[in-house]
Amino acid sequence: MDKIAFTDKQNEFIRTLKQDKLKRINVLEGSVRSGKTWISLIAWAVWVAMRPKDYLYMMCAKSLKTLYRNCLLPLQGLVGENNFKFSLSKKEGVLFGRKIMLEGANDQRSEGKIRGITLGGAYCDELTLFPEDFFAMLLSRLSEPGAKLIATTNPDVPTHWLLKEYLKNENLTDDLFRMFFHIDDNTTLDKGYVESLKKEYTGVYYDRFILGKWVVANGAIYKVFSDSPTAFYTKDIPHFDYINIGLDFGGNGSQHALVCSGITHDMRRLYALKTERIPAADMTPQTLYRRVFDFCIEIKEKYGTVSALYADSTEQTLIAGLRQALRPIEIIVKNALKREINDRIRATTMLMGGGRFFMLSAECQTLIDAFQGAVWDDKVVGKEVRLDDGTSDIDTLDAFEYSFERYIPQLIRSEK
Ligand SMILES: Nc1ncnc2c1ncn2[C@@H]1O[C@H](COP(=O)(O)OP(=O)(O)OP(=O)(O)O)[C@@H](O)[C@H]1O
Ligand SMILES: [Mg+2]
Repeated sequence: MDKIAFTDKQNEFIRTLKQDKLKRINVLEGSVRSGKTWISLIAWAVWVAMRPKDYLYMMCAKSLKTLYRNCLLPLQGLVGENNFKFSLSKKEGVLFGRKIMLEGANDQRSEGKIRGITLGGAYCDELTLFPEDFFAMLLSRLSEPGAKLIATTNPDVPTHWLLKEYLKNENLTDDLFRMFFHIDDNTTLDKGYVESLKKEYTGVYYDRFILGKWVVANGAIYKVFSDSPTAFYTKDIPHFDYINIGLDFGGNGSQHALVCSGITHDMRRLYALKTERIPAADMTPQTLYRRVFDFCIEIKEKYGTVSALYADSTEQTLIAGLRQALRPIEIIVKNALKREINDRIRATTMLMGGGRFFMLSAECQTLIDAFQGAVWDDKVVGKEVRLDDGTSDIDTLDAFEYSFERYIPQLIRSEK
């Protein structure tokens, strides 16, 4: 570890550790990519190495998979395989001769597993993503003398349990050490990369993940779009590797929505190519299939191919009928993946902010309207919810997202 250079902020944290000024609960918070996880892993390793060998320690993240990717592999890279070995199937590791339990906080069995144990220390990555009960249980298990917890997190809503019950809890002041990391504190990052990240995060995501503030989402969701829609309009059609269609079935009062999008060869740009709304009232399944068929034929004629049509999976009967109806034109109908809505929104706004989303405006009026009309629900406290009360066209947004959500990990390189 001796050749490693720390950033100023990281040095400050290591000084705190060396001066024995860490508290029982230590939280490193702030922007993405700011160097929190990296330095917290070093601090954790140094601290554990100084602690009694017969204590039990624990490392956890939202899931075992994210723990592996964000912490276990980097930790092994930092201290070497000789000093840190782990087995994911056994859910344990050995760090400088100390036994480390490994847990995913969202695994239902985890809380039960830690119920009876006594811990000498714990490490938590991305703490806002943990269930509150798991964290409370973990703290109650930190009962060996001098036990400590080191955690990292990005901010969330101001009403989040972590902020309200712990970070801002005046009864805990003596037990709590908090340090803020800004993305600009991470001087190891390439300047161009930081600039592009700052553009990709817009609206509430900018305030949280770049500025590191605990703020609520309010107002327009796609503000980056509605501020200057024409910036996204294009007439140029590049070569696409994937052309997909998303279909959201309308129920009472809403409409069916179709959106076709294309993803470029380099997997970096997303184009909305054609959209359509179909009133659900008085429509039989057959007339719906006909409209979808016509939409698909038009796409096939213009672009030569359709990779797949992704449809809302709650309507299996309609999907079965559609499969039959589209068989003659060889279009495969699949169930939409239905990722978390906020993950889809974040992906869309990141592509918009990063200048990687485009639309054929003349063909996509319903999507233009849907972007401009979408707002956060101000009645829901504690998390972001896209308002879905019939005043805006959520159907078209769903259909748009179904069309590309499968590719979000490839499209968003810094996806969490
Ligand atoms: N001192 C350093 N020397 C070299 N690379 C570093 C250093 N500090 C951080 N990095 C690198 O910078 C990147 C971001 O750091 P890190 O993952 O710790 O950020 P983070 O604050 O945990 O971000 P997020 O909130 O996105 O999880 C990583 O690739 C990490 O390896
Ligand atoms: Mg991190």
